[in-house]
Amino acid sequence: MTPAETLINSHRLSREEYAALLIKAEDEGTRELLKTEAVRLRRKYYGNKVFTRGLIEFTNYCKNDCYYCGIRCGNQKAERYRLTEEEILECCREGDKLGFRTFVLQGGEDAWFTDERMEKIIRRIKREFPDCAVTLSIGEKSYESYRKFREAGADRYLLRHETADEEHYRMLHPENMYLSKRKQCLYNLKALGYQTGAGFMVGSPGQTLETLAADLEFLQELKPQMVGIGPFIPHHGTKFANEKAGSVSLTLFLLSIIRIMLPKVLLPATTALGTVDPRGREKGLEAGANVVMPNLSPLRNRKQYDLYDNKICTGDEAAECRTCLARRVASVGYRLADERGDALE
Ligand code: SAM
Ligand code: FES
Repeated sequence: MTPAETLINSHRLSREEYAALLIKAEDEGTRELLKTEAVRLRRKYYGNKVFTRGLIEFTNYCKNDCYYCGIRCGNQKAERYRLTEEEILECCREGDKLGFRTFVLQGGEDAWFTDERMEKIIRRIKREFPDCAVTLSIGEKSYESYRKFREAGADRYLLRHETADEEHYRMLHPENMYLSKRKQCLYNLKALGYQTGAGFMVGSPGQTLETLAADLEFLQELKPQMVGIGPFIPHHGTKFANEKAGSVSLTLFLLSIIRIMLPKVLLPATTALGTVDPRGREKGLEAGANVVMPNLSPLRNRKQYDLYDNKICTGDEAAECRTCLARRVASVGYRLADERGDALE
């Protein structure tokens, strides 16, 4: 049996088999086989529904210095902003009117947002919009902080592991950041009952088929309810400014593999995918993705949440234009669902 057939049959492979499968990323027959199975599985569990999440990028202050990221603390040129509690609530009100039932609060690791401030914001959102899910994406915190946020009402947490290979992790991060800590955070989040999302960039500097195989093996072990992957895109103000962006076709291939490995996973067609290819998100849906995350941040701040060059944040990408998005999704045979879209058990 080929690795592709084994994956389809048993939903899991060894690290060596993942590496052997990834060598086939450009093989038309393998791509089609996996894509067809990925689409069959997402249809089996989710029909033609695509879930939407309103993304609120509420602060671009960050204490970390991840080498790939445009808002890392070492980038003196980043124009910093943070939203007030009231502004965050206002984004949710706007999102609620537009039909969003999940709000994703994403930001750098900003000490201004203490646990107490975050808890208050989460409680206010849950009080005003009891039917909505709150997803956090604010980096590495202690077990105790995650516990407090959960108690305040947070439902989900996104924390990409970035790479499951120690040496590769060192190439992407300064010495005060540890892969072991990142992984522990993910296990803590799962233990606390969060619907948990891990993930990585495709084509980050130093990535190889072996490190990608390690990523897939880690996802297989962690079994997250959500997986965020998107191409790496260089940012002019980072040391990776002259590196190549990640490949769309490899990202699509990986989306299909992840859908087959974790059939019920919530898998976004990411903004980065839509940035490197104008039809990236539609292609993502056709490869097995079932979530889109349009931007709900205040218009004046969107350009400032500048993770990588040319990030799309207006036009069809913007939450305001739900009908544009609905049209795009319909063009590939799916429909926007107006529900929270929780992970299936
Ligand atoms: N601070 C939180 C964290 O570290 O999880 C959330 C914010 S962080 C900006 C969100 C994600 O953006 C990261 O997990 C990373 O994968 C992605 N990202 C950062 N820089 C990127 C780049 N140059 N290209 C593509 N994705 C990038
Ligand atoms: Fe902190 Fe990117 S370095 S959000």
